[in-house]
Amino acid sequence: MVRYQIVFISEEKKMLKLTPPMGWNSWNTFGPNINEQVVRESAKAIVDNGLDKLGYEYVVIDDCWSLKQRDENGRLVADPEKFPSGMKAVADYVHSLGLKFGMYSCAGTVTCAGYPASFDYEFIDARTFAEWGVDFLKYDYCYHPVAVSGKLSYRKMGAALANCGREILFSACSWGADNTHAWIRSTGASMWRSTGDIHDNFNSIRDIILQMLDVKNNYNTDFNGAMPFGGIGCFNDMDMLVVGMNGKGNVGLGGCTYEEYKTHFSAWALFGSPLMLGSDVRDIDEQTKSIITNREVIAINQDRLCAQPYLGYVRWIDETPCNAIVKPLENGDFAVLLINLFDHERLITFAGEQIGITPSTGVKLHATDLWTGEQFEIHNHILLENLQPHCCKFLRVKLVQD
Ligand code: GLA
Repeated sequence: MVRYQIVFISEEKKMLKLTPPMGWNSWNTFGPNINEQVVRESAKAIVDNGLDKLGYEYVVIDDCWSLKQRDENGRLVADPEKFPSGMKAVADYVHSLGLKFGMYSCAGTVTCAGYPASFDYEFIDARTFAEWGVDFLKYDYCYHPVAVSGKLSYRKMGAALANCGREILFSACSWGADNTHAWIRSTGASMWRSTGDIHDNFNSIRDIILQMLDVKNNYNTDFNGAMPFGGIGCFNDMDMLVVGMNGKGNVGLGGCTYEEYKTHFSAWALFGSPLMLGSDVRDIDEQTKSIITNREVIAINQDRLCAQPYLGYVRWIDETPCNAIVKPLENGDFAVLLINLFDHERLITFAGEQIGITPSTGVKLHATDLWTGEQFEIHNHILLENLQPHCCKFLRVKLVQD
């Protein structure tokens, strides 16, 4: 008879991710057409382009990597046609480049694309991933038995990972369903998908931002926006980035303009979402590179305070906010994002009051534009910007006292 012993993992041993994870995931571009060569080339491209030095460290294989059947011991098997060297060899290669290796499974009976998933195989699968050298597990929610609570299934996989003998970052992907925000931290997850799947067009980007602000909500009735629930150790995941997909690939439905991709990257950075690239990193154009390598914007995302952004006072028109979203930073500065989510030109405003600065404070506000480098003072603590549709102005604001 097998006896299970409950082992408590000490704080030092448990991985605590202090800032949002960054990396690359195969799904947005490759979907089911994932294979060893793509993974190896993408990992190499991350290093060749210096993206690892900016913090992009996880190389994650999403759905469709396995055979449709488990082996005679109930273990998952990597598809030998797609991964002829086996997963351990792929992991070793990714590690040899100084990167971390991620894989995908699902809390259901099969994955979203119909491959074997981990429901009731959690401990076997966690051990398999550990043996292969996996550092990150994205855990999806399709085909999850309705009679079982999501909370139980994610706790089960969380416990399996915590006891598999290897540190594996747990990336939950239940899209905010079943009030994920209320129980996700109890599962040991370091990040959790708070919204549905992204597509490469501005409607999809806008939809996700509005869900974060609780304007629209596709999955729950009593969920008050994901924005207050991210923070150190467990980050709201707004889904993989589409920057640079230019309408190509698995979720490349339409594509975005350069300005729209800048707005997308700025919002994901401000909201403290993990920054997982979804484009084909083997072929990055200059415009894309200028976005995903913007150190000042990445610094807002990786700010160690990990404070959640807020709107302060809200001026809504057609259920869309017209004032800046702001976020306090570790050194006392504020990140200020003026964003035009409308399809027409619109005046977007920022007022010092949003961050607690009234004239009586005697404080001056010095702004740096994170996309142009321009520096200026925000006179009278008020900024009025006529922004073109889907464009943004992203500022770091310093409080200056005479
Ligand atoms: C779900 C997830 C996506 C992706 C696919 C794979 O839709 O939300 O991010 O992992 O499954 O099938």
